[in-house]
Amino acid sequence: ETAFKKTQLLVGVNILVTAGPTYEAIDPVRFIGNHSSGKMGFAIAEELAALGARVTLVTGPTALGTQHPNIKRVDVTSAAEMFDACTNAFSTAKACVMSAAVADYSPVNPSPSKIKKQDAGLQIELRKTTDILKTLGERKQPGQYLVGFALETDQEEENAIGKLQKKNLDFIVLNSLKDEGAGFAGDTNRITIIDRNLHKTTYELKSKKQVAADICAKLVELILG
Ligand code: CTP
Ligand code: CA
Repeated sequence: ETAFKKTQLLVGVNILVTAGPTYEAIDPVRFIGNHSSGKMGFAIAEELAALGARVTLVTGPTALGTQHPNIKRVDVTSAAEMFDACTNAFSTAKACVMSAAVADYSPVNPSPSKIKKQDAGLQIELRKTTDILKTLGERKQPGQYLVGFALETDQEEENAIGKLQKKNLDFIVLNSLKDEGAGFAGDTNRITIIDRNLHKTTYELKSKKQVAADICAKLVELILG
């Protein structure tokens, strides 16, 4: 924890932050998920709270905890639950930072009882989840800001710019999985931020806490104009 109080630039500003993976049930004991630790989203929520914002942190399953009194934590499990929590919170938010790793597919008919193993293989029918960020981008009003993430392995900038435009974002944080020290589980990240004008800023490899501070500084610039 920092010993110094940060300048309270975001007092009274509501911000929605999402974190962690989502779990899509296959049956009562199994799910489809991903390796997101939630660290990036929690670090962003803590940083915004330290700047005085009122943060709603919608998080998928994670072992992480929060202390800050400015953070209201909303625990969800599936992409569908995260969608409901986010569309609710966004209506009264100044901004949303969507750092959750939302599942793209979900089992169509989760079994109400544990699936028993059989000699044959198993096929599970999946359907696409709703794109939460894209929906928020469609609902975004003037004066609201939207930040997304892109985790890419190939044609990184091209893909990130595609997401920025398709989802009506104000900026996108590109996380390269190619880079050593970047990604899900570790404590460091190397990011590039691309804004609406396709202006690009690249940052050094840093701790997720410091990366969170860089992302929040960019958001503060937008909010305070
Ligand atoms: N996202 C979302 N809802 C989804 C899927 C993604 O809100 N159902 C958000 C993520 O939180 C992230 C951004 O969209 O901020 C980009 O996610 P990413 O997985 O990189 O991109 P996708 O659009 O899902 O495309 P793909 O996985 O094919 O690269
Ligand atoms: Ca995806």
